Amino acid sequence: MKEIELKNLDAQKFISTQVEAIRDAVGDGLAINALSGGVDSSVVTMIGHRALGDRLKTYLIDNGLMREGEPQQVVAVFRDQGVPVELVDARDEFLGALKGIHDPEEKREAVTQTFYKKVFRRLVLDSGAKHLLQGTILTDIDETVAGIKRQHNVFEQLGIDPEQAFGYKILEPLVQLRKDGVRKVAEALGLPRSIYARMPFPGPALAARVIGEATPERIALVRKATSVTEEVLAASGAFQCMAILHEDRVTGMRQGKRDFGLQIEIRCWDSVDARNAVPTRLEWETLENLSRRILNEVPDVVSVTYNIAPKPPSTMEAV
Ligand code: XMP
Repeated sequence: MKEIELKNLDAQKFISTQVEAIRDAVGDGLAINALSGGVDSSVVTMIGHRALGDRLKTYLIDNGLMREGEPQQVVAVFRDQGVPVELVDARDEFLGALKGIHDPEEKREAVTQTFYKKVFRRLVLDSGAKHLLQGTILTDIDETVAGIKRQHNVFEQLGIDPEQAFGYKILEPLVQLRKDGVRKVAEALGLPRSIYARMPFPGPALAARVIGEATPERIALVRKATSVTEEVLAASGAFQCMAILHEDRVTGMRQGKRDFGLQIEIRCWDSVDARNAVPTRLEWETLENLSRRILNEVPDVVSVTYNIAPKPPSTMEAV
């Protein structure tokens, strides 16, 4: 499959080609997909519904790792588009699978396995669907094949046959696109700006923003830091911004006493397609405001840092 670059992308033509391809592949059967609210899975949901109508069942799986209020907000956006989405509460399963795991790749693997082998597998089997629609994009494949980071949704290119491993076929309508192309298609589909201009958010979600063990308490803490960071940096125009909770504690002081506290690292990126990125040149006042709010609103934090290393050699996420 060849890359379709943004300058060569005719969004309406792309949509009708993919609608046809999905109809051909699924025939008169059923398909299923998981929506996270990110632009990739949102586009797949809309194209899938155009192709199959109510023969596509869309689920939003609440893995306990999403941002504040996100599952309910996303379901509401799609309800407005006339697309029914069923919210599945799988918080305990994911948080249970992450228990005791510190290694970044093992954490990714725990999220992947819980999603595909347990929660989603159960939904597929219950629905009788033989096809799964998934929003894998070209960058996911590139980085996984290069061994940089195992993206949660890449199988075939790693020699994994999803049909054998999980019992269903995976259709990937967006594999020829990168993020900029997906956003153009999202807009052409009539999705709202909150979706087509949505900041990227990783598959392992807030588990990718906690260094070390992603316990419910540490997830709750980084969720709060994420809300503050996204709010303060909303006007920055950055490609992506994030708060990361570090594993190491550092010495701080509170009320005149030593406080061995937590560290939050802020990252804010300028990028076109996430392959390369440089830290945004934020105003010092903005950084001070962010630091003040995190120190006041996120419990136990005594250190707030801003990452100034570009990708490469950094990656955008810390895990
Ligand atoms: P990295 O950290 O690989 O991220 O430079 C590139 C872009 O992909 C987004 N993203 C993911 N990153 N695992 C990741 O590490 C995932 O499963 C994933 N899904 C999306 C990431 O947020 C950044 O925009």
